[in-house]
Amino acid sequence: MSTDAAPLLSTARILPVLTVPSVGMALPLAEALAAGGARCAEVTFRTWDAEQVVTAMSGHGGLVVGAGTVVTAEQAERAVAAGARFVVSPGFDADVVAVCRRHGVPVVPGVATATELMKALRAGSHTVKLFPAEPLGGIRMIQALAAPFPQARFVPTGSVGPVQMPAYLAHPSVVAVGGSWMATPGHMQRGDWAEIRRLTAEAVERSAK
Ligand code: 3PG
Repeated sequence: MSTDAAPLLSTARILPVLTVPSVGMALPLAEALAAGGARCAEVTFRTWDAEQVVTAMSGHGGLVVGAGTVVTAEQAERAVAAGARFVVSPGFDADVVAVCRRHGVPVVPGVATATELMKALRAGSHTVKLFPAEPLGGIRMIQALAAPFPQARFVPTGSVGPVQMPAYLAHPSVVAVGGSWMATPGHMQRGDWAEIRRLTAEAVERSAK
């Protein structure tokens, strides 16, 4: 089975990155994202019940739910067991990639340098998360890395918002843009599902241009 995430992410174009304060928010969150037109979402492993959130959100409104902030092989095993359809990491870890590969789950390792990108490519991961995209130079970093590595596909994430998004998506090496701006923990804690839906719909609409 392919462990490349490009087919999934290039259809979605937008990857909401979610740090969900409690599993009780999973269903209204999934509904708001799906109503806004999101096709997939990344649930970060930064909360104690992230696995339950992955399981609860999965398939809701047709959402393809993955796990993010997966930094160890053990977390990758737990993410897969929880039903994560893809796994994202802020950095490159060969063991995380190996676990996902063994389970046939697409994996998106993070890279911040040409050397890390070479490691990811050598491990068979052609789709990578450029993280943190904006501090690294934004679209200029994508342009710089895409020249020597035309086979790489990028998911720029990190301080990316609606203003930066169009320039990234216009680059042929960018499959999708990730970010938390559509659904922050603050939105979730306030129960502001309408705003999550609105911001998601706005991003989805702009990504189609
Ligand atoms: C991530 O883990 O992908 C980032 O924390 C998301 O970055 P953002 O919050 O700056 O969008």
